[in-house]
Amino acid sequence: MPLISDISSLRATINEWRRQGLRIGFVPTMGNLHAGHLQLVKTARLHCDKVIVSIFVNPMQFDRAADLSAYPRTLEQDCERLDELADAIFTPTPELMYPNGQQQQTRVVVPGVSEVLEGALRPGHFDGVSTVVCKLFNLVQPDLACFGEKDYQQLALIRKMVSDLNMPVELIGVPTVRAEDGLALSSRNGYLTATEREQAPELAATMSWLAERIVQGERDFAALVAAGSTRLNNGGFTTDAIDIVDASTLLPVTEQAQAVVILMAAFLGKARLIDNQVVSL
Ligand code: PAJ
Repeated sequence: MPLISDISSLRATINEWRRQGLRIGFVPTMGNLHAGHLQLVKTARLHCDKVIVSIFVNPMQFDRAADLSAYPRTLEQDCERLDELADAIFTPTPELMYPNGQQQQTRVVVPGVSEVLEGALRPGHFDGVSTVVCKLFNLVQPDLACFGEKDYQQLALIRKMVSDLNMPVELIGVPTVRAEDGLALSSRNGYLTATEREQAPELAATMSWLAERIVQGERDFAALVAAGSTRLNNGGFTTDAIDIVDASTLLPVTEQAQAVVILMAAFLGKARLIDNQVVSL
């Protein structure tokens, strides 16, 4: 499978596929691939003739240099996992993506979605995500792109960007892939010790417990957030944020809301784990 790391080879490959009238699917990733990423690739394959995966640890979306340098880079293993699933892998360098440095980079900013919740905790993070995904879309020019529902706010951000900028890309949100014990698969799970890995399913368990209480009619969301936070902290986590917001706007829940999303973020040792669940009202 071709490993493409320069723009002219990428364009040549894409042009050839286009010339053959093929439908192109795209899955952007930062590598260290697990079954969650592979599910995105399989989904793209169901809808397209060719699937291209990008592996790029995007410096622009990291708010701390230490996180960027510590991010796991496992290209050889990633290529093995994609063998027979993808048709090409695009692995640009930071210099190729940001030839003039990040500060000189034109940015794509999605107001609102990028500023609330996770965006408020990590200023600039979502600007880095929307900017790099826009650049990758312009490079790959896919008909369809797959993103995980695991990163709920990121998916909302990309949907808004594509809609606001009339980008000709169909988006598919892929349900979160979990381990058997409920833990959402994530590159960050690799930071967990054996003991922490045993504690980790408590995040999804607490989220399901909150969801069940909402299904049963509980509407005091502030009380639910407090109860969820206590339960997580008792389970060995340090809660960073629990939010229950309107699932379509990510704003506080109003009378009109048809569904809410429970967004969880908590530290377990060194790892900051996130998860989410949508609940119809
Ligand atoms: P990364 O964290 O590598 O994730 C790549 C894609 O895989 C994202 O769409 C993410 O939501 C999805 N994903 C991760 N874990 C998943 C799981 N357990 N189940 C289903 N999908 C899962 O997200 C990024 O990279 C970057 O921000 C990126 C979009 C590539 C821009 O740099």
